[in-house]
Amino acid sequence: MIITIDGTTSSGKGTLAKRLAKHYGLPHLDTGLLYRAVAKAALTAGVDLKDEDGCARLAAGVELGAFHELELRSSGVGAAASVVASLPAVRRALFELQRNFAQHKGGALLDGRDIGTVIAPDADVKLWVDAAVEERARRRFLELSSMGEKVTEAGVLEQLKERDARDAARTDAPMKPAEDAVWIDTTRMTPDECMAKAIEVIETRRR
Ligand code: DC
Repeated sequence: MIITIDGTTSSGKGTLAKRLAKHYGLPHLDTGLLYRAVAKAALTAGVDLKDEDGCARLAAGVELGAFHELELRSSGVGAAASVVASLPAVRRALFELQRNFAQHKGGALLDGRDIGTVIAPDADVKLWVDAAVEERARRRFLELSSMGEKVTEAGVLEQLKERDARDAARTDAPMKPAEDAVWIDTTRMTPDECMAKAIEVIETRRR
């Protein structure tokens, strides 16, 4: 079984993806980490985030194991990831790796922005996870504060709006729900409720 989870930043898709992968015993790839790793590598090497060839070369050699997850989760790296993710050559360089992961023999679960539309269009179950932007900003603010980042909720809200707009407006593989995706709005849901809803959707699809 291939499950795809796409959606906006801080919608709860990451938590849901981890829990669902564990529940169904599926290997899980958080594809956002790939773009974050490319961005982090570019920032470290002094490669301009708009240098398509330079960033694509970094993407071709990307190794998630070379990074601590926490360093990839910062807001600065997230914003930079959104910029490198708009470069078609970077997306091309990361395509095979994601496509191969989706073709694991026993199935796989991938989360990102274009998984149900581009990476695994034939997936068995596709979820689109979203929440009101103010609620997402509140969650992200708490998360970044707990990581020690000095941020304000208003600042995070602005960044999220900017990131959503960039991710949805890019011409190559924009963030968007697949036509056959089931929507989950987590604005008023706890992680447990979100999990229960997703399992209900998956079980219905399997029958
Ligand atoms: O999910 P995330 O916040 O870790 O993703 C970081 C950035 O990477 C996000 O702004 C958009 C980009 N991304 C993408 O373009 N396609 C994906 N499949 C996953 C992430």
